[in-house]
This record gives sequence, C-alpha cells and structure tokens, in this order.
Amino acid sequence: TPSFENLLVESRGPVGLITLNRPKALNALNDALIDELVVALGAFDADEAIRCIVLTGSEKAFAAGADISMMANFSYMDVFKSNFIARNWSGITAIRKPIIAAVAGFALGGGCELAMICDFIIAADNARFGQPEVKLGILPGAGGTQRLPRAVSKAKAMDLCLTGRMMDAAEAERAGLVSRVVPLDRLLEEAIEAATVIAGYSLPIVMMIKESVNRAYETPLAEGLIFERRVFHSTFGTEDQKEGMAAFLQKRAPEFKHR
Ligand code: CAA
Repeated sequence: TPSFENLLVESRGPVGLITLNRPKALNALNDALIDELVVALGAFDADEAIRCIVLTGSEKAFAAGADISMMANFSYMDVFKSNFIARNWSGITAIRKPIIAAVAGFALGGGCELAMICDFIIAADNARFGQPEVKLGILPGAGGTQRLPRAVSKAKAMDLCLTGRMMDAAEAERAGLVSRVVPLDRLLEEAIEAATVIAGYSLPIVMMIKESVNRAYETPLAEGLIFERRVFHSTFGTEDQKEGMAAFLQKRAPEFKHR
C-alpha cells in the first residue's frame, strides 16, 4: 500500500475508508491531496475485496474548499494550460464502486463539490455546506453550479452560489442535498454501516445501479429508460441474480459471488 501525506487509508472488512487529513488547513484541497485521493480511490476500485468506499474528513471540516494559498497567484494561462481542477478531479468521477461522503463540519467550495461527486452524503448534525467562491472573486469550479441545482432546487442553488452563505445540516437535508443527518459521534459508524449493507450485495449489480442512477443526470428520460432496461436485462446474465432469487424462494440469506 502506498503511503499518503494528506490522507489516512484503511479498510473495515469490505469497506474502504479514506480520511482527508490536512488538519492545519481544514482539509483544504491542494493538488497533492487530490492526486493522492485519486490514487487511493483507484486502489480501492481495483481491489476485489472492497465493495464500497467511505470518504470522510475531520469533526471540524470535511474540506474547507480548494486551497486559496495555492490559487491566489494563478494566472489565466496557469489555470487554462493545466486545466485546473478538471485535470485530476475527473479521476474521482471515474470510480465505479459506490462512494459515501460522511460529512462533519465545513464542506465549502471544493469541499461541497467533492461531497456532491460522491454517490450520497450522510451528514453529521454540525455539517455546514456552502459555495463561498463568490466572496473570493471566482465561481465554483468543480461542478458547484451544475451539481448543486441538480441536487437541490434552482432557488436554493442560486441563493447559495450568489450569497456565499452556509446552510446547516437540517437545511441541507430538507433541500435534498444529504440523505440523512446523524449525531456527530455516530457519523462514521452510520456511514460504515450503510457501506457494509451495500457491500453485502452483489458488487457488479451495485456498480450497475450507480452507473444507471448517474445516467439519469446525463440523458432525457426516454433515453435513460432505455439505458436502464438494457442494464436490467443484463442482470439476468449474472450468477448473483440466480442466487438472489433462489435464496428468496428458499427463505435463506443469499451468498453473492460478485459475478
Ligand atoms: N484554503 C487554504 N487554507 C484554508 C482554507 C482554504 N480554502 N480554509 C481554511 N484554511 C486555513 C486558514 O487559512 C487557517 O490557516 P492558519 O491557521 O494558517 O491561519 C486554517 O485553515 C484554519 O482556518 P480559520 O482560522 O479560518 O478557521 P475558522 O474556524 O475561523 O473558519 C472557515 C473556518 C469559515 C471554513 C474559514 O476558514 C473559511 O472561510 N475558509 C475558506 C472557505 C472558502 O472560501 N472555500 C472556497 C475555496 S475556493 C474553491 O473551493 C474553488 C472551487 O470551486 C474548487
């Protein structure tokens, strides 16, 4: 296993756990951190023993955004030529196993965008979400103006992106940004429990579900339904479909082989 400067990486049975770990800067996301994150996620994606991933930060901050000290003196040519943010961030969206974001404290700017790239967000009751880029004279650059209106409403997305204000966990749950809110001291347990449930199912089926739900955000409904039906048909080509249905009929727990 490679060692990381900005991450802690461990496995809990079939669950891969990645903890953002740049405490001095509230987990501000610099290039090195994202490069490491892509490596760590890729390693779990390739590891047959891992079937779900949890991404978390500290109790104080999931991530307080892109690193402002890194960006402060960037020129247009610097960011254009390096394709700033897309260059390494696109490695995160390439991950095919589910990723649960377990968010406590600040998830701001790139931190909120990183949480939104994950498949769903479980928030601690102290979580605070926002896109404060407007205050810095920039705009969200890692999907905030695109994923936030898809996750919440146009009204809420505009409000957050234009005012730069933070919303708390309760508001984020009402808005549909997070799937559940739990007490801070239960956050990691709850996220790992959810990941363990997912890891108990057939991995290829889980990957097909992730791919299909994500497809809903890329296609008109009729095309999405055709995509879903094709994937649905393909599940009947798996051993795990035979096992899942046989187990139901025999009133026993299924033993998925992940193929
Ligand atoms: N970049 C670099 N350093 C950061 C940072 C960031 N985004 N956020 C926090 N830090 C650093 C602070 O500079 C501070 O460092 P020092 O101790 O060396 O001074 C340390 O983390 C602790 O932060 P604070 O003292 O500010 O802590 P606080 O509790 O008073 O405030 C906060 C917390 C409200 C999150 C505040 O730190 C803050 O507003 N941070 C910036 C949030 C932000 O603007 N994020 C968007 C970045 S732009 C972006 O993300 C672009 C994109 O779309 C990808």
